[in-house]
Amino acid sequence: MDEFEHIKIQTDKAALVTFATRRIVNMIHATLQVNDSFHIALAGGSTPRPIYEKLATEYSAYLDWDKIHLWFGDERSVAPDDEQSNYRMVDEALLQHVSIPEANVHRMHGEDDPTEAAAAYETEIKAAFAGHNQLFDLSLLGMGEDGHTASLFPGTDAVHERDKWVLAHHVEAKGNLWRITLTFPALLKSANIMFLISGAGKAEPLREVLYGDLDPDTYPSQIIAQSDHQHVIYAIDQAAAAKLNQ
Ligand code: 6PG
Repeated sequence: MDEFEHIKIQTDKAALVTFATRRIVNMIHATLQVNDSFHIALAGGSTPRPIYEKLATEYSAYLDWDKIHLWFGDERSVAPDDEQSNYRMVDEALLQHVSIPEANVHRMHGEDDPTEAAAAYETEIKAAFAGHNQLFDLSLLGMGEDGHTASLFPGTDAVHERDKWVLAHHVEAKGNLWRITLTFPALLKSANIMFLISGAGKAEPLREVLYGDLDPDTYPSQIIAQSDHQHVIYAIDQAAAAKLNQ
C-alpha cells in the first residue's frame, strides 16, 4: 500500500459522507461473511451524524441489524436525552429508525458517576471481547481543530493512559464537561479505524497530525496517525486536505 493510499480525499462533505457510509457498509458485509457479528465504535460530534442518517435510511435494508453492535468512542457526562449527549445524537440519527436489538447498543452511561461509568464500560468491553486480541471491527473517530479525538484532548493526562481502556476526566475544552472516553490503547486495538474529517479548520491540525513532529500533548490524534497500525483510513474532504502538501 502506498503511503497515501489511506488518505481518501473527497470533493466536499457530502461526498465524504457517501464515501464513508459505503466503506462502512462494505466492511460490515465483508466481516459478516466470516464472523457472526460486527462491532463498531461510533464517533460523536457533528461530522458523523449524516453517516448515521444514511445507514438508517438508504442502507438500512442491506444491513442485518441483529448482528451489528454499536459502541461509543466517548460520551459527555450528561443524561442520554441531553442535547450534548453523543448517545442522543446517535439515537435521533440512527437508533429511532432501525430495528436493532437493545442488547446490541452499548451505551456509555453519561448520567452516572463518570468514573463508575467508565469502569463499567471497560468491564462490558472486556466481557464482550474476552479471548479476542482485537476489540472493535471498526472505530470511527472525528478530529477537533485542536487535534483531539474522542475525548482525548491536548494537555490532558488521558492522552498518555496506557493501561485503562476507558477513563473519565474533566475537560474544559468543548463544553467544560466531565467526559467518558476510550483510550488510545483501546482504540488501537480496533481492527480498523476511520477518521472523519471535514472543513478548512481541520487542514492545519490534520497536516500536523499526519506529518508533524511527534507531539501528542499538542496533537493527540498523532498517537493513532503516527502509530504502526496498518488499517487506519482518513475520510476527508478537500477543505480539510488543503494543507497536506505544504
Ligand atoms: C465529541 C467527539 C469529538 C469529535 C470531534 C470532532 O464528543 O465531541 O467525540 O471527538 O469527534 O470534536 O467533532 P466534529 O466532527 O463536530 O468536528
